[in-house]
Amino acid sequence: CGIIGFLGNDALANILDGLELLEYRGYDSAGLAIRRENEGESEVYKCQGRVSDLRGIVPTEGADFSCGIGHTRWATHGGVCDKNAHPHRSGKVTLVHNGIIENYADLREEYELEDKLATETDTEVVAALIDKLYDGDPKKTIKRVIKKIKGTFAFVIMFDDKPDTIYAVRNVSPIVATTTDDATVLSSDPAALFKYSKEYFVLDERIILTANRDGISLEDFDGNPVEPNYTKVDWDVSAPGKQGYPYFMAKEIDEQPTCIRRILSNYLVNNDIEFGFGGTLDDALKNFNRICIVACGTALHAGIMGAQLFKKWTGINVDTEMASEFIYSDTTVGPDTLFIAVSQSGETIDTLEALRKAKEAGALCLAILNVRGSSISRVADYTLYTDAGPEIAVASTKAYTTQMLMFYMLALKSGLVRGTITEEYFEEATSNLRKIPDAMAEVIGQKDAIHKLAKEVITASDLFMIGRGLDYTVLMEGALKLKEISYIHSEAYAAGELKHGPIALISEGTPVIAAVTQTHLISKALSNVKEIRARGANVVLIAKNELKADFSDEYHVIGLPDLDDEYMSFPEIVALQIYSYYVSADKGLDVDKPRNLAKVVTVE
Ligand code: G6P
Repeated sequence: CGIIGFLGNDALANILDGLELLEYRGYDSAGLAIRRENEGESEVYKCQGRVSDLRGIVPTEGADFSCGIGHTRWATHGGVCDKNAHPHRSGKVTLVHNGIIENYADLREEYELEDKLATETDTEVVAALIDKLYDGDPKKTIKRVIKKIKGTFAFVIMFDDKPDTIYAVRNVSPIVATTTDDATVLSSDPAALFKYSKEYFVLDERIILTANRDGISLEDFDGNPVEPNYTKVDWDVSAPGKQGYPYFMAKEIDEQPTCIRRILSNYLVNNDIEFGFGGTLDDALKNFNRICIVACGTALHAGIMGAQLFKKWTGINVDTEMASEFIYSDTTVGPDTLFIAVSQSGETIDTLEALRKAKEAGALCLAILNVRGSSISRVADYTLYTDAGPEIAVASTKAYTTQMLMFYMLALKSGLVRGTITEEYFEEATSNLRKIPDAMAEVIGQKDAIHKLAKEVITASDLFMIGRGLDYTVLMEGALKLKEISYIHSEAYAAGELKHGPIALISEGTPVIAAVTQTHLISKALSNVKEIRARGANVVLIAKNELKADFSDEYHVIGLPDLDDEYMSFPEIVALQIYSYYVSADKGLDVDKPRNLAKVVTVE
């Protein structure tokens, strides 16, 4: 969910703008509570739907509001409807919440809150409890209530008898904040703060934040004052909009060559790969004999690619696990393991909890993240930043390719320091890395041709993607892209595995994308393609340009620049991103905000 708290002039407009920026964190419903300077009760407006719907129900004359809180919801407890939207109000207390209160049913019973409740949400129980225990001292009451709560939460709270003051407290779910001469702003995401400042701090867990016209003050549960620890972002925060693109996803696909160039110029130094950390990370890469990579969604796919590369260039044992499974499974991770957590947001709770578990087990923890200062970076021993800039579209693109590049560099450097690849091979590899941005740009230049092929499948209900080796790994991500934004059921299968089951799904006209960019696997992969063509599949082939002419008579072909096989993943995924984008856009769907999904998932 997206959270905002604002103190300053024109609070209503600022909260609405902030919510719009945060909408990618949840867009089932939206709401806000606002109040005028020195006035008591706040006014609550909320509705099912988007921030644009909320704009339709708030006062049009709102320039004199000076303080307020807002929320965009991704439903967990309680269905999607107006009354379950946040803020929740009980007596003197109005609050917004991100997270899940696990013991809300017990609290409801123990404190006999039933009569105070109008919704099925876990959040309203907390509002009711704070109100019930409120004795005029907000901080004291918040502390009392927080001690009784089990679960994850970020709360931003207002009390009717404390005008122009907002309180916040969190456990696991993030809250960031900043204060300037004109405004004090709290949010679940730094993206909503950049309009005000490039500097912000992350609220530590179990610290009470008080924001008023004097700025922000923090104190721990024992009443001791705490100083905020500000971080500064170094990307250009001035142009967060779509910049003329119809959707953020289209813009973010096009940004990829620039993002990759930026990472290469940061890390490729005189033909070496330097991660910083005074070489201690290199030592770690040299000494570990086991690696465990954990992530969710797209980041997991980058991790699966990473595992292949580590095996290829170092021969190290690598496990890749879904974070949500890793947390509750038996694990052999221990002090001999390099544990790598991958996350665009750095806030995904499954990945965060997995990392905590690995750390407790004594593993050395490395994170690959995009958002600086995020929760995962605070637990990891080392963090490598992809610095791709804010990724707004729910379907991840530039985060994936930059995460993947990090794995290429980590695996190559590991191979070099461990002596499993030669210096000559390493040099050749770094020159291959430098070719990636142009290869991606070349595919972006083929948008129209890919669009034509995408048009063919907009009425399809299923689509399969098949390939072998690294192609299969890229296709997993390609199939996720397509299913999440087009709602076409799409699955990637290892081409050789088809005959063991999935081939039963192929019938006359079934669309299939087959990738054959791995030279040593082409003849085997093509045999599998022939098997499905014989059963009526409509095949689009993804192949290197050098082979395009050989296939064009028989297939529709997406031709990719001729990089060495290992580096084809980059142009290949760009082609699949563009393909998925056009299928979704041509179906008239909201490409950036696919149904049921949220960009940052801070619940397990
Ligand atoms: C959500 C998003 C996915 C994303 C995943 C992991 O499910 O919808 O696009 O890949 O979370 O997010 P992270 O921020 O950890 O990379």
